[in-house]
Amino acid sequence: MSRAAVVCGLGGALPATAVTNEELAAQLDTSDQWIRTRTGIGLRYVVAPGESTSDLAVAAGERALESARRKADSDSDAAGTEAEVDLVVLATSTPDRPCPGTAPGVAHRLGLGTVPAFDVAAVCTGFVYALATAASMITAGVAERALVIGADTFSTILDPVDRTTRAIFGDGAGAVVLRAGESGEPGALLGFDLGSDGGGADLITVRAGGSRQRSTGEPPAEGDQFFAMEGRPVFTQAVINMSESSQRLLDRVGWTPGDLDKVVAHQANVRILHAVGEQLGLEDKQIVVNLDRVGNTVAASIPLALSDAAAEGDLVPGHRVVLTGFGGGLTWGSAALVWPDIEPVTRS
Ligand code: ACO
Repeated sequence: MSRAAVVCGLGGALPATAVTNEELAAQLDTSDQWIRTRTGIGLRYVVAPGESTSDLAVAAGERALESARRKADSDSDAAGTEAEVDLVVLATSTPDRPCPGTAPGVAHRLGLGTVPAFDVAAVCTGFVYALATAASMITAGVAERALVIGADTFSTILDPVDRTTRAIFGDGAGAVVLRAGESGEPGALLGFDLGSDGGGADLITVRAGGSRQRSTGEPPAEGDQFFAMEGRPVFTQAVINMSESSQRLLDRVGWTPGDLDKVVAHQANVRILHAVGEQLGLEDKQIVVNLDRVGNTVAASIPLALSDAAAEGDLVPGHRVVLTGFGGGLTWGSAALVWPDIEPVTRS
């Protein structure tokens, strides 16, 4: 056995305001039937005016820390039972401000003192990248316990008249606590597969607001401040990259698809999830789905799906799990673990 990062806490948070398909259809040229059939989404949540990504990140972080405390209390022989963490990694593509990063403010509001805290931007793959970063820092001995958060508020960057993106995206945050442990323990992160293809950078983008299309003091060209996505090629790339990345990881870890109990994939579109399952030769019941209730919450998607699946008993201790994500960049990434006996502190 070797030193490994072990998942020991899980939490999630959603904003208070839910938006139904019918409410969207009252504002835009769309329908509940189109959205459900083409995406599988029935509901998404959006932040209130003045509410930001860090507010959701703090709520999810608090809940993950509470979940880790309960685990430590119930597990008297758990290594590192002290509740505090010495690293915060926040995956987001909707930071509170372009500068500074959002993570230090989140760590401060969580009362974590002067711990290292930084953002990771890999859009919908952000959580897997953040998990790999924190796990690597733990295995290298740079950190002992890490809070890894995925949080996004895409409602703040969507074009109000774009029926496609408004139907898909929702706001939210999810978080896990990692502690140093052994590779043979349940919850140990057993391996990662990460990749990118910048040749597809324009498929998922916000054109204005960075150094390429910099601020001149004038409003940006129409629509350039909003998130834009080319749905069809993104769909194809999501299926190819999540299934190929999962398969590479399975080979590395020494599992076959038949050994797998659950795939927790980025919740982009239920048709994408089923296509990934089909590519891997899995049955629908092996694919965790919660996008019907929350939409695509970007970096929050995988930890929120884990929270819901664990809370509902769809994911149980001992399950062999692959997490897989795909998003802007283009980026993709997968992680493997045996699910630990933890109690998620879920969204209210
Ligand atoms: N309501 C009604 N009609 C719609 C809507 C809507 N909400 N949105 C699009 N349409 C229309 C289109 O305008 C088009 O009309 P047309 O034929 O008259 O031009 C028609 O529906 C079909 O459009 P398609 O784009 O071909 O529809 P498709 O079945 O491919 O579904 C979708 C579109 C849902 C966007 C799909 O392509 C998809 O899910 N893509 C992947 C998105 C994704 O995974 N994003 C995650 C990564 S993003 C990130 O990392 C932040």
